[in-house]
Amino acid sequence: MVLHSLEPRVTLLDLLRDKLALTGTKKGCHHGQCGACSVLVDGIRSNACLLLAVMQDGKEITTVEGLGTPGALHPIQQAFIDCDAFQCGYCTSGQLCSAVSLIAEGHAATARSASR
Ligand code: FES
Repeated sequence: MVLHSLEPRVTLLDLLRDKLALTGTKKGCHHGQCGACSVLVDGIRSNACLLLAVMQDGKEITTVEGLGTPGALHPIQQAFIDCDAFQCGYCTSGQLCSAVSLIAEGHAATARSASR
């Protein structure tokens, strides 16, 4: 995708969904409050609805489509299936991306480590 062909006001969320057909990332509030649009920008969880696409040039963007494949799910995706964690499913892609980042940031703990 050539970013310079985009209008400067296009959000990363709209670029992903409308121009790149990566519709796994959902549009909820479009105000940075719900997290449905969460993606990883250079490995950091970010609300795609609050980011201008043109400002992400050169950054690595990971959406839910990039976490795993149908035949090789990311461990977080498998955990969501194993634990029936989908709720309605609309926000699941954002929850998955946030969970991956939270673990990478060291915010996750096991029951054992949390009780110490
Ligand atoms: Fe709700 Fe982005 S759509 S935080």
